[in-house]
Amino acid sequence: MQGYNPSIKLNNGVTMPAVGLGVYRSSPEDTVGAVKAALAAGYRMIDTAAAYRNEAQVSQAVRENGIARSDIFIQTKLWVSDYSYDGAMHGFERSMKKLGFDYLDLYLLHQPAPAEFERTVGAYKAAEKLMAEGRIRAIGVSNFSPAHIERLMAETDVTPAVNQVELHPFFTQKPLIDFHKKHDILTQAWSPIGGVQRYWREDAKPEEDPLTHPAIAALAQKYSKSPAQIMLRWHLQLGISIIPKSVSPARIIENFDIFDFALTAEEIASIDALDTGKRGGPDPEHSDRKAFPFVIED
Ligand SMILES: NC(=O)c1ccc[n+]([C@@H]2O[C@H](COP(=O)([O-])OP(=O)(O)OC[C@H]3O[C@@H](n4cnc5c(N)ncnc54)[C@H](OP(=O)(O)O)[C@@H]3O)[C@@H](O)[C@H]2O)c1
Repeated sequence: MQGYNPSIKLNNGVTMPAVGLGVYRSSPEDTVGAVKAALAAGYRMIDTAAAYRNEAQVSQAVRENGIARSDIFIQTKLWVSDYSYDGAMHGFERSMKKLGFDYLDLYLLHQPAPAEFERTVGAYKAAEKLMAEGRIRAIGVSNFSPAHIERLMAETDVTPAVNQVELHPFFTQKPLIDFHKKHDILTQAWSPIGGVQRYWREDAKPEEDPLTHPAIAALAQKYSKSPAQIMLRWHLQLGISIIPKSVSPARIIENFDIFDFALTAEEIASIDALDTGKRGGPDPEHSDRKAFPFVIED
């Protein structure tokens, strides 16, 4: 099944690949090699962000690979320091200068800024305008709760196409997924193999890592797959888009080799049951400029 690449239709009719490569915490040097390895393996979607400081290297890899721009789905994110209508317009142009493309496939607000939500709304209205002008094909959000999305939808016109959130077997976000389904918003999982459980905490314990959980290991053995592949397959069968990050060519290939087996309904339920209800990453209620004070330079 090498080369197979399932796609998902967003609520505005735009089609995107279900599986992409994430590049958070990929150094600029590593990003070029990782994106090239992903494109060679069949990935056609890359998730970057202004805050990752590697948009230029994503673009470099795409260009050097020679792949047609229209054959690849690029998504990036606006950082909180650029929230407000004018700030977002500026932040978008800065990202586009680094990316060097005429248009962007998907633009996400990186996280809500609950303490100054009017700036969040202003930023989203700028994204709506840019989409109306044809600079962006789809817009969405990241790390938003149902309450954040409801508040945004009450003050803007375009229902977000995507909400990218922390989601893995230890934090399954079922109520949020149900809310997304009701509003035709695609759930996209960040840390799909639980990366945040390892790198976000200094005192991470092995039992807090879904990669080493015995239930996942048993399924990996049954299907002759790795624990990462079992988790990624679980997401796909739930209709969730995934953006696993790796800078290792072997793991990049491994994370895309998930189309030749299927988990049973009982196995899906057994992974669902690993949910702890506890997120590994930051609480979106406290994700504004005060909590994340760094700014993106021009
Ligand atoms: N919107 C947001 O706020 C937000 C937050 C976090 C992440 N994200 C996005 O989501 C993407 C993925 O999330 P993530 O980076 O947090 O976590 P992840 O993809 O769940 O895990 C990545 C970690 O697992 C390792 N890894 C990758 N493949 C592996 C495999 N097959 N077996 C064992 N280990 C493996 C990677 O190391 P190696 O690189 O050494 O392979 C890395 O340390 C990010 O890159 C970013 O694009 C978004």
